[in-house]
Amino acid sequence: MSSHNTTGRVTVPKLKEMKAQGEKIACLTAYDASFARLLDNNGVDVVLVGDSLGMVIQGLETTLPVTMDEMVYHGQAVSRGLDHAFLIMDMPFMSDASVEEAVANAGRFMKQAGANMVKLEGGADQKELVATLTRLGIPVCAHLGLQPQRVHKLGGYRVQGREHDVAERMLEDARVLEQAGADMLLLECVPVELAEKITKQSKIPVIGIGAGNICDGQILVLYDILGISVGHIPKFAKNYMAESTDIAAAVNAYVTEVKNSSFPSAEHSF
Ligand code: KIV
Repeated sequence: MSSHNTTGRVTVPKLKEMKAQGEKIACLTAYDASFARLLDNNGVDVVLVGDSLGMVIQGLETTLPVTMDEMVYHGQAVSRGLDHAFLIMDMPFMSDASVEEAVANAGRFMKQAGANMVKLEGGADQKELVATLTRLGIPVCAHLGLQPQRVHKLGGYRVQGREHDVAERMLEDARVLEQAGADMLLLECVPVELAEKITKQSKIPVIGIGAGNICDGQILVLYDILGISVGHIPKFAKNYMAESTDIAAAVNAYVTEVKNSSFPSAEHSF
C-alpha cells in the first residue's frame, strides 16, 4: 500500500498549487490499465500516455510511426485505471501538422480517451495552436528541449541548450508558450542551469526528464524505472527495481525520491 497521499483528483489548479507550495510533482508514463492502477495507488500525481509507446510497446526505432488510433486505444486503457492521477496524452507525430488537425485530434483525446491535458512538441512556433487549444478549454503541456519527433532534424537524441543562443531561444519559447496559455512545460535533456532558469521564470509547473532536480516535478518512462527497457538506456533513467522487491515498491521509491528531490542526482543530469 502506498505511503503517499492519494486522495482527490489531481487537476490543473492543483498542479499549479503544488508548484507554488514547492511540492514536487511525480510523473510516470503508462500504456495500460493495470500499470495505470498501480501508479495511481502508489502516489504518482501525473500519468503520461507517451508516444514512447512506439518504442517500448511496439519495438519501433523512433516515435514517428505512432498513430492517433493507437494513442486513443492506450489512452482509453490507462484512463480506466486512474481515480486520482492527472492524465496527459502525447500528440503523435503529424497529428498537429495544422491547427485544424490538432484541434480535432486533441478533442478526440479529451472526448474519447478521457485525457486531462495534451502534450505537444515544439517551441514558440506552436503559439497559435496553444492559444487555440486554450481558448477551447484543452490544457496544454509544451515539450521543449530534446523533441524526439524531430530526431531526424536534430541528427540524434542529444542534450539541447548547451549553446548560449539555443538556451536564450528556449527561455523565450517557454515565455511565449506560457503567455499563449500553456498550463505546463516539459523539459527533456536540458542542462541543469537552463532548466533552473526556465523553472524560476515560469508560473506554470515545469516537469523535467534529464533536466536536473530544480524542476517542479520529474517524469520517466515506466519501463526505464522497472529496468526492462532494452538497448541504449539514457543517462537520466534510473532502475528502481535494482533495490526493490516488487513493482509497487519501485514506484513508491521513485515517488519518494522525486518528492524529496534526491532524484535526479548529478549522475542522472546534464
Ligand atoms: O513519450 C514520452 O514518453 C515522453 C516522455 C519521455 C516525456 O514524451
